[in-house]
Parts: sequence; C-alpha cells; structure tokens
Amino acid sequence: MNFPSPLLTLRQFAVLLMVSSALHAQTPSTTKPAEDAAKGTAPRSIPKIHADLCSTCHGVNWEGGRAPSMLDDVWAHGSTDADLTRSISEGSPANGMPPFGPLLTSSEIRGLVILIREARVKALGVPPATPPAIADQAVPSELYPLKLEVVAGGLETPWGMAFLPDGRLLVTERPGRLRLVEPGHGIVGTISGVPKPWLKQDGGLFDVAVHPDYAHTGWIYLSYSEPGGTEAGASSTRVIRGRIRDNQLVDQQTLFQAAPELYWNSNIHFGSRFRFDRDGFLYFSIGDRGHRDDAQSLASPYGKLHRIRDDGSIPADNPFVSRADAVKSVYSYGHRNQQGIAQHPVTGEIWTAEHGPRGGDELNVIAKGHNYGWPVITYGMNDDGTPITDLTAKEGMEQPVRYWTPSIATCALEFYTGDKFPRWKNNLFLTALKGNQLIRLELDGHKIAHEEVIFRDLGRVRDVVTGPDGYLYLAINTLFADSPGQIVRLVPARAP
Ligand code: HEC
Repeated sequence: MNFPSPLLTLRQFAVLLMVSSALHAQTPSTTKPAEDAAKGTAPRSIPKIHADLCSTCHGVNWEGGRAPSMLDDVWAHGSTDADLTRSISEGSPANGMPPFGPLLTSSEIRGLVILIREARVKALGVPPATPPAIADQAVPSELYPLKLEVVAGGLETPWGMAFLPDGRLLVTERPGRLRLVEPGHGIVGTISGVPKPWLKQDGGLFDVAVHPDYAHTGWIYLSYSEPGGTEAGASSTRVIRGRIRDNQLVDQQTLFQAAPELYWNSNIHFGSRFRFDRDGFLYFSIGDRGHRDDAQSLASPYGKLHRIRDDGSIPADNPFVSRADAVKSVYSYGHRNQQGIAQHPVTGEIWTAEHGPRGGDELNVIAKGHNYGWPVITYGMNDDGTPITDLTAKEGMEQPVRYWTPSIATCALEFYTGDKFPRWKNNLFLTALKGNQLIRLELDGHKIAHEEVIFRDLGRVRDVVTGPDGYLYLAINTLFADSPGQIVRLVPARAP
C-alpha cells in the first residue's frame, strides 16, 4: 500500500480510501482490514508515518499549521489516549481531519499517540543545564513544605539502599562498591569482598536487602550482573547473601544463578530489585535480558518476578513448583524489566514498577502465577519508533494499574510508612529516571486517586526508602559527570 502524498487533499484521500477498501474487500478475513494489509510487510516507522501523513497539516513537530497544534493541551474531541486514538481512526471529515483507521494498524495509531505525547513533553522545555545545588533545596510539595538534606555525597551511581537495625544505611554503588552511611556522618565505611560485577551497559551491582531478623542472622542480600555461561560476552543476574564482619563480606552463599546455557550475550534488563515481604519471603526481579520471548517462557528466569525463602530455597506454595519445565522461583511472568517492588502496608499486596518500551512503562499489582503480558501485549512501541504489537489487552493477561505515555523510566517503589508525614501514610512513592522525578501516588484500591510530582530535574532518583527516623531517603545521581551521587532525605523545610 502506498502512502498518500504529503500534499494530499481530502478529495484525493477519499479516492485512496475507496481503492484501499476495494482491495480489502477481496481478502477473505473479516478482521480489521488494515491489520491484514500490514501483515507480512516490514513494520513501518511511526515517525515516518507522522512525516508522510500528518505533518503537512499538524506541523513537523506537531506545532500546528493548517490543523490544530497537538502541544497546547487544547483538545476538541477529548484528551485521553482513547480519545486521540478515536480522533485519528475516525477523523472528523467535516472539519478536514481524514479518518486514518482504514490506512493504519491499531499499533501504528497507538504509536502516533505516543509521538504526540512525547512531543508535548519536549515542548515543555529542556531541564536547566546546571542542576540546582541539592543541599537545602526547597521542595514545595502539596501537603508539606520540604527541603532536601544531604546525608552522604561522593558516591558513584548509588543504586540500592537498606537500613541496618542500628540506623546505619547500606548503599550499593553500581560499579561494585558497598558502602556504609551514617546519617549525620556521611560515608563511614566500605565493605570489601563484594563480588566484582559485569559492568557493561546496564550491568553492575544492583540492590541490597537486610534480613528481617538481621540482629540474629546477620545476613545481607546483594544482586548483581556477572559474566559466565558458555558464550563469550555472556552475562546474567546473580543473587547472593553474606555477612559483614570487620567491614568484609564473609560467609557468601549463592541463592539464585541462571543455568549456564541461559547466560545471554546482552547487557540490558538485568533487573534487579529486592523486597522482603512480611512473611519473610524475598522477592527479586530479573528483566527479559533483551530476549523478549523469554518473558513468556516459564523455563527461563528472565522477564520474571521471583520469590524465594531467606536461604534461597523455594517456598512450597510458589505457583509453578509442580511444573517440570518451570524455573521454580518464578512468582509472576510476562514482565519487561521491573526495578521497583513494594508491599502494600494494609493489603499485603506486592506492587511493582516496570520499565516498559517507549511509551509503555507500567505500575502493576502482582497476583501469584499471573501473566503480565510482555511482549504479547504492551502500550508501548520500539525505541526506533516501530510498533511491537497491535494488542494492548488479551484474555489471561493482566492490565497495569497505570501506564506512562510518554515513558518516564519508572524505577523504585516504596509505600510511606513513617510517622513524620502523617498525610502521606500508605502513599506509594515512585522514582522516575526520565525527568528525574519523585512521584507520590494516593491509591484507591487498584486505582490511582491522586498523583503529585514532588520534585523533578534534581537528579536521577534510583531508590527511595522510608528511614527509621520517618524521613524519605533517596539515592540520587545527577546526569552531570562532575556532580557525584548522593544520598539525600526529604525533611520539613522549617524545624517543627
Ligand atoms: C488534511 C489535513 C490533516 C491531516 C493530513 C491530518 N490531520 Fe489531524 N486534524 C486535522 C484537522 C483540521 C483537525 C481538527 C478537526 C476538528 O477540530 O474537528 C484535526 C484533528 C486531529 C486530532 C484531534 C485533535 C483534537 O483537538 O481533538 C488528532 C488527534 C489528529 N488530528 C491527529 C492526526 C494524525 C495522527 C494525523 C496523521 C496520521 C493527522 N491528524 C493528519 C487535519 C489533518
């Protein structure tokens, strides 16, 4: 099928529609004609569809021209993704907007909605070239006047944090260091003997967790990427535990490791976040490692949320323990790359944040053994602007609580359980690497009742935890090479 020329008139477009529907009338299938027409052909680039079919009227950057701007938040036919999808599909021919439903697949229309949303964010302007100083940075949030207080500086890409019972904080740095931080004193120690991670691209030392009964057991948990397997350049995610003695990691035990033949020659989507639940089970995530279809295979550990006991053994009630072909630690599947896991303080449900493809970041409530759809269903498209699938929903696959178009690069998740900010009680905090945001979500069951960006553009927030002092602690690293990573906490702007 040819695209109409950019200088298409409505009359030419009408002729084209007639030709195209005549062609489709010959196909025996009664499913959507455009879907059939696109089958077997290479996926078409969404930015090219915009350039060929939309830009003459709506502008090369969607700024408007012969047709309305898509950047001004003014919508004649509704503002939701579903409204935009309908506008593009059905058009409003009487007002000069042709219907594109017969020419484009639903995934192409979905991709155009993503492009429009991305253009809107771009039009808001670029973040300041130099970040504001974080020390004592005022954060005027909706419910509390706050400021950011530096707890420790000089860190290199801090990734995960976990408090020890004595109030000190363990912090991982992605290049492979484990630090001890003491609020008020900064970095007070470095733990030696931590395994050297595989550092390519997304790789590194990831999360740290402290055993729920640390006082008696002394265990801490680490996840990291490591080289291995059978192929040169291959790597995977490994989970270990160990004890800290004289600032050394001793008694190391491996709790999870992939089968050697499953170490992929890919350096993306390793996961890997931890969360101990109230029953003492340890959840950890591993992404799809760039092998999308692995997310749907129970024989692969990738694209999964896993659940193990504190010693690495498999809980008897894990959903796939009796399936011979399954990795027994799998708890839910069909995930792309989850980097946030939290347990709801009241319901006990596990919530996760998932890095989606372009336009498809997700917040999910996890049900044991359920399939979250990747890559069969998704709201996103490929980074290069080509569609992934026409499906956003399917029988037997879970829908997210919310998805983000455009993507915000969702990262860590934490329910606020402290006593310093009572009006935040049980609110869900989410960090986003794009726009460098900290987001607060008020929930109503499985719906988001209210959403607030607490701050943006101060630095990439990799992790958020409630401190024993009731303040929210954040692991931040700015995008500017000379500006080191920091641990900061949100405190009241004025002393109470
Ligand atoms: C021939 C000119 C023309 C082309 C080509 C065109 N549009 Fe439009 N479009 C319009 C006009 C005019 C309107 C306003 C219609 C109205 O207000 O009823 C419109 C409205 C819309 C709206 C609804 C806006 C609102 O305010 O609710 C969307 C979304 C949209 N276009 C997307 C697209 C996309 C995506 C493409 C390319 C696939 C495209 N348009 C191609 C002329 C065009």
